Amino acid sequence: MPDAHRKRGHTSAPTASHRPILPPEPYDVERVRLDFPILRRLVHERPGRLGKPLVYLDNAASGQKPRAVIDAMVRCMEQEYANVHRGIHYLSQQTTDAYEAVRGKIACFLNAPSRDNIVITRNATEAINLVAATWGRRFLEPGDEVILSVLEHHANIVPWQLLQSEKGFTIKVVPCDARGQLDVDAYADLLGPKTKLVAITHGSNVTGTITPVAEITRLAHRHGALVLLDGSQTVVHMPVDVQVINPDFYVFTGHKLYGPTGIGALYGRKSVLHQMPPYQGGGDMIAAVSFDGTTYRDPPYRFEAGTPPIIEGIGLGAAIDYVEMLGRDAIALHEHSLLERATKRLEQIEGVRIIGTAPDKAAILSFVLDGVHPHDLGMLADQMGVAIRVGRHCAEPLLARFGVEAAARASFGLYNTIAEADALVDAVVAVKEFFR
Ligand code: ALA
Repeated sequence: MPDAHRKRGHTSAPTASHRPILPPEPYDVERVRLDFPILRRLVHERPGRLGKPLVYLDNAASGQKPRAVIDAMVRCMEQEYANVHRGIHYLSQQTTDAYEAVRGKIACFLNAPSRDNIVITRNATEAINLVAATWGRRFLEPGDEVILSVLEHHANIVPWQLLQSEKGFTIKVVPCDARGQLDVDAYADLLGPKTKLVAITHGSNVTGTITPVAEITRLAHRHGALVLLDGSQTVVHMPVDVQVINPDFYVFTGHKLYGPTGIGALYGRKSVLHQMPPYQGGGDMIAAVSFDGTTYRDPPYRFEAGTPPIIEGIGLGAAIDYVEMLGRDAIALHEHSLLERATKRLEQIEGVRIIGTAPDKAAILSFVLDGVHPHDLGMLADQMGVAIRVGRHCAEPLLARFGVEAAARASFGLYNTIAEADALVDAVVAVKEFFR
């Protein structure tokens, strides 16, 4: 743990409600940046040409990795590695303990009642596909209704469409208003006795909209429907408490949370997980196997066939520790100041249209610039060292809702600075000048 942060806290992840109360201290972003080796590199270096400092504003696509995560993964491979759940030898036991401790950290991170609520997956996409392939395939019937929203990432649309073609249920879509705010009245009108599942994002990866998930869940439960929430864009920006929100499923991915790729999690309500058949078959998920029939383990292991992502899990555990050490409230405040600064300055540029102006937003800023294709904008900004995402953002229905085929998107992370928010705006001004 970096010394400068040690005083903030703790090495294990506390729950939102058990976070130690510390005197307010300024968020030291320059100190935080030192924890991320990649932020020291230059981009576009060429022989005879000094590169540009990296201004990394593509955090909604993937976060950079702190030294603590890199070191934990290297340490695992160098010192504490064997297969888990299978070996009676020392290293296997040690690695199993470390890996299972991560399940506990994820549970604390979401304030889940137990580590048994946590299924470890490859990412959020796999977590949603798991629910569709198990709960959905068993319980959804023709005539049933599944409610999604126009704010969804493709990962929370396509798995349901794939299952729909097999099971014949109806998909209904909650609209959003011109600010990107979910239309809760329209949602309430869509709910009915046929609604079996509501699958909605907690935070849009395009507009940054934070959806009123506790309200969404309460209304769905009143109709007897289950609720799945996609927290990929929210766990990185704010505390999340599944016992307060009360969904049946909550998913997130590790690589946006400053952890490695290839790791994510599914929180599931215990009673629901127990009703679900296995996802994939293989080792580790079985109780007993014979050619006359096979029995399966209880959740969460029932859904984790094969050797799990051990090293990635260790990395995710370190990422959770790191984020908790900084404090998600502190991160949220810091990122909000960047969002406000960039939004205010971008709004002043004639020809800029911001996509997503909901009052409750994560630090994600999508926009278009009149007369300039987002790809040109992104390429020119990149030449200045400013890394943003351009395109459809895996959310085509949402871009269509705003009448655009593509947009530019800056997304802030816990290591970004006010100077970098300004660099974004300066890049947009320069691109506008270029096309004049
Ligand atoms: N879902 C990721 C994004 O929004 C890849 O960029």
